[in-house]
Amino acid sequence: MHSATAISFPNIAFIKYWGNRDECLRLPANGSISMNLEGLETHTKVTWDKLRVTSNGLPGIDSLTINGQSITGAGLQRVAAFLDLIRQMAEIKARAAVVSQNNFPAGAGIASSASAFASLALAATKAAGLDLSEVELSCLARRGSGSACRSIPGGFVEWHPGAGDNDSFAVSIAPPEYWPLADCIAVVSAKHKTTGSTQGHALAGSSRLQAARLDDAPRRLDICRRAILSRDLEAFAQIVELDSNLLHAVMMTSNPPLFYWQPATLTVMQAVRTWRAAGLPVCYTIDAGPNVHVITEAVEAARVADLVGSIPGVQKVLVAPVGGPAKLVE
Ligand code: DP6
Repeated sequence: MHSATAISFPNIAFIKYWGNRDECLRLPANGSISMNLEGLETHTKVTWDKLRVTSNGLPGIDSLTINGQSITGAGLQRVAAFLDLIRQMAEIKARAAVVSQNNFPAGAGIASSASAFASLALAATKAAGLDLSEVELSCLARRGSGSACRSIPGGFVEWHPGAGDNDSFAVSIAPPEYWPLADCIAVVSAKHKTTGSTQGHALAGSSRLQAARLDDAPRRLDICRRAILSRDLEAFAQIVELDSNLLHAVMMTSNPPLFYWQPATLTVMQAVRTWRAAGLPVCYTIDAGPNVHVITEAVEAARVADLVGSIPGVQKVLVAPVGGPAKLVE
């Protein structure tokens, strides 16, 4: 029995990943920048069984348990296909038992695929006897879920799109303590989204706006990176909100169109703009769901969380400071 356990954090993108140049390799159409979300963690234990076949002579299958529930079907298939990559790298035929837990509320609409595949990449390779570098781990995690490559390094992270499988990975641009920000996540709906990110990426190119969004991406990446490095909240707020608006413009104009917002989503967006105009350091960003990530300085997080929580339609607010890298645990 060879096992290892890893934890990692989800991340929130400031410059978003939307659309792939290569769906299978998950090579993104544009670079992206994010921060990890401390305190919302995925804990994953992987145990490789050395048996090549089960006692009745049939090949065994991988097993997956998430928050105590056994997962089969498409969820298990996605993980098994990812484990195939590790079987190839380690030259093993063993099957894996994967047991994963998220400490953040199930169905809170917080993307868990990033922390799921980041912790799985680290635990499964370690348990298979591989010792990958951070860059190699980031490339591998990307194959499970694109945004997972950004949950391998710590703090503020940039994913360089690269030209192929081995040079599309994420690196840290600043450690968590460099700029004490916090994400106050306004949970507007805990319902499971109808169109997941994987299907959404495939639709991106059907919007005529995607080409314009991609064309301008290097400029936005540059402004966002510089705003983080100079801790310039006003410049940061402008570019983060613009990038989120561009993402949703593409989603709403793809074929079929994707509408992720609920009425309360727009209420929070407008409140955030009003608060910023009144001097509060806040901005919003929204992923493929209705919940609004309200980014602020950590010292203001309690006040901002209270304000956000008092908006009608907001069910709860989760607060996450900047998180570190994926790591192995005992
Ligand atoms: C809108 O990484 O979840 O959150 O690779 O298909 O798993 P898959 O997609 P995923 O896409 C994330 C989309 C996004 C923007 C972002 O996080 O950059």
